Amino acid sequence: MMTTQHQQLLRFFLLLTLLHSSVALSPNDAYPSVTDSPECSAFSSSSGDDDNLVPERRETHAGGRIIDISHAYVTDMPAYNSEHGMGEFLRLLTSTKNGSNSNGSELKLFVHAGTHVDAPAHFYDHYYDAGFDIDTLDLEVLNGPVLLVDVPRDSNITAEVMKSLNIPKGVRRVLFRTLNTDRRLMFKKEFDSSFVGFKADGAKWLVENTDIKLVGVDYLSVAAYTDSKPTHLILLKSREIIIVEGLKLDGVKAGVYDLHCLPLRLRGAEGSPARCILIK
Ligand SMILES: *[C@@H]1O[C@H](CO)[C@@H](O)[C@H](O)[C@H]1NC(C)=O
Ligand SMILES: *[C@@H]1O[C@H](CO)[C@@H](O)[C@H](O)[C@H]1NC(C)=O
Ligand SMILES: *[C@@H]1O[C@H](CO)[C@@H](O)[C@H](O)[C@H]1NC(C)=O
Repeated sequence: MMTTQHQQLLRFFLLLTLLHSSVALSPNDAYPSVTDSPECSAFSSSSGDDDNLVPERRETHAGGRIIDISHAYVTDMPAYNSEHGMGEFLRLLTSTKNGSNSNGSELKLFVHAGTHVDAPAHFYDHYYDAGFDIDTLDLEVLNGPVLLVDVPRDSNITAEVMKSLNIPKGVRRVLFRTLNTDRRLMFKKEFDSSFVGFKADGAKWLVENTDIKLVGVDYLSVAAYTDSKPTHLILLKSREIIIVEGLKLDGVKAGVYDLHCLPLRLRGAEGSPARCILIK
């Protein structure tokens, strides 16, 4: 137990720290206010004073150097082909309210929900049967330099659009930001089939004319709604291209970053939710 004197000293020390950080960090979206800073929560719990226990939620970390491009899983996020959104995906199995020592929740999630990765088994029966699941994907492809580009907002991703983007040879990972981001489709509960994605000819052009091995998009499917099957088949055929869908790309400058994308090691699954971040 800390004495009152100790607590006062600690309070003084933390106040100094906070004053210092408010000078060092300019307030921005990542740090909307100093009162939300981790020092403050740490102080609250260590002093046993829980009045101000507000968890911090951030879109960027390390002063903006690490950008979270994953969507938070929430019940109102869209689900493919559904008007009702994703719905409940967490359930308490044990609860302290029920006399258990701890709370323990169960996760029940469509593997292609939110920010997620597709494996070759997603559209190919024989790849599924042969075991080309999420656990077989190459982490080297999922992690490394990436180019974030803006797709002209008046079109799906066709061969013509791919050509116009002039993505240099040698670029192996590209995140395509489209009209979907401007329309905030991933923040809308109702699935919108008019989203922008790859048309089959755009996918074919990518496979034949670029070195791209990771394709990232900003809605639930890499393929335009009308081209779902052919586009996936074209991209997944070689088993060398990894598709990342449902990325959160708003507010990020186009350009080169380091991408880190880590799907879960789900044996037998043809998809998995993933945490994806960009590092400047
Ligand atoms: C609590 O216990 C009741 C009765 O056994 C059960 O119906 C309920 O699902 C439990 N809830 C949790 C969160 O454990
Ligand atoms: C457990 O869950 C209940 C809701 O059923 C919540 O009120 C309680 O604070 C939680 N306890 C812990 C230890 O997380
Ligand atoms: C993209 O294609 C979809 C059909 O899959 C269509 O509804 C939508 O209007 C197209 N978007 C643009 C910007 O052309």
